[in-house]
Amino acid sequence: MSQTKQAFEKHVLCIGAGYVGGPTMAMIAAKCPTYKVTVVDINEARIAAWQTDELPIYEPGLLEVVQEARGRNLFFSTDVEAGIKEADIIFVSVNTPTKTFGRGAGKAADLQFWEKTARQIRECSTSSKIVVEKSTLPVRTAEAMARILNWGEKATDIHFEVLSNPEFLAEGTAIADLKMPDRVLIGGAETPRGAAAVQDLVDLYAHWVPRERILTTNVWSSELSKLAANAMLAQRISSVNALSALCEATEADIDEVGRAIGSDSRIGPKFLRASVGFGGSCFKKDILNLVYLCEHYGLKEVASYWEQVVKINRYQRGRFVDRMITCMFNTVVGKKVAVFGFAFKADTGDTRESPAIYVCRELVDERAAVTVTDPKALPNAKRDLADIADQITWESDPYKAAEGAHAIAILTEWKEYAELNYERIFEVMEKPAFVFDGRNILDAEKLHRIGFNVYPIGKAPKTHIGEESEI
Ligand SMILES: NC(=O)c1ccc[n+]([C@@H]2O[C@H](COP(=O)([O-])OP(=O)(O)OC[C@H]3O[C@@H](n4cnc5c(N)ncnc54)[C@H](O)[C@@H]3O)[C@@H](O)[C@H]2O)c1
Repeated sequence: MSQTKQAFEKHVLCIGAGYVGGPTMAMIAAKCPTYKVTVVDINEARIAAWQTDELPIYEPGLLEVVQEARGRNLFFSTDVEAGIKEADIIFVSVNTPTKTFGRGAGKAADLQFWEKTARQIRECSTSSKIVVEKSTLPVRTAEAMARILNWGEKATDIHFEVLSNPEFLAEGTAIADLKMPDRVLIGGAETPRGAAAVQDLVDLYAHWVPRERILTTNVWSSELSKLAANAMLAQRISSVNALSALCEATEADIDEVGRAIGSDSRIGPKFLRASVGFGGSCFKKDILNLVYLCEHYGLKEVASYWEQVVKINRYQRGRFVDRMITCMFNTVVGKKVAVFGFAFKADTGDTRESPAIYVCRELVDERAAVTVTDPKALPNAKRDLADIADQITWESDPYKAAEGAHAIAILTEWKEYAELNYERIFEVMEKPAFVFDGRNILDAEKLHRIGFNVYPIGKAPKTHIGEESEI
């Protein structure tokens, strides 16, 4: 932070250098060269990594955006206090995980990191600031934040205006999402001060986002819209996954059903692919948060409606493992299973809440010999399964992972897994060789011709079991 305050038009600070704070601020810095953007975090290793070309998170295109602005008007630091003092606008992008203890455990958001940040902003500030909720938070959190920040305001003459500006980026496509977002949502108080703060944030985004895509609302609508958007996206996945179970029972094909219903313009084609289930740090956490809020306001029916989305997701991945075991003659004891993909989705190394965590654990419980491969997520996978690491083999090369395996389970839709040489893989596997395609990315017909027994999601299997010259 060597530049003087006058050198830049505005000073932007982001507290929390994670999957949201890092990419979002890199994009703001790249698009607003007259703003100084500083990203701070208490995690020293993370900050150190942001200062190198080995960034702490993998995201296509991220390094280029960081390199464009780093050292010019984008800075990473562990000095939270200095960052707060200097800032005009502070984004709070700390983690808000599901509470694991006390009241609301397993559902409510754990707001301890967020509250610590609010208190620190208050303690360290020597001038008025706009404080922006970037983290996903329960509805009406801004009210609590404003209370903490502005307590005794008159005595200090410093005012904090709290805005809600939830982040809608999706990991794996974060850079494209940030470059051309469907919308930027800014919620502010309906007061002159609130309107002025909203305008400041609109001006920031208007450096590159078309004005008609910048939506302004009241704070509560903005906070709720983030939870609602994630709930609706996850609900769509669970709806398709629920239908995939019916497809398997009836020999309907979920891709055909998806195409048929998605061509209705009221429904639309996106997010209609069946899979082993959704993962990621947000969907489950945000729906459970929504459920908790509904319960808090006495809306039991609404709460149980949304909770069902999470239940179906759990059911789907359990169903996937059940099918594997049933099809492999009701036992996987001692059988090698090659798990292709551990990230919760393609093009990210993030494994938080990945279905692979649950599938691997259940397979290990069944005493299968599990080998995991993934192009980007092995370090995180090893941490997720640290307690059973001695029962898992890690392998970066999918061909090696398949050697001697009875089955392959595709758990992440990495493009490279669709492009592997499956003739070569079939040669080195135990027979009968099984493929359980938890993402429907493989050409089932082709694999069947090679000799595999193929089990896609939501489709009739293609097997050789029971054939005279069984493979
Ligand atoms: N990951 C996503 O795709 C995504 C998308 C939209 C919204 N969100 C929301 O954004 C928020 C952040 O998510 P994330 O995935 O970036 O989390 P993350 O865990 O990757 O990053 C949060 C960072 O905040 C830091 N932090 C915590 N307390 C701090 C403090 N007092 N001072 C300084 N730093 C502190 C942590 O060390 C961590 O590095 C969450 O509320 C999440 O729900 C995430």
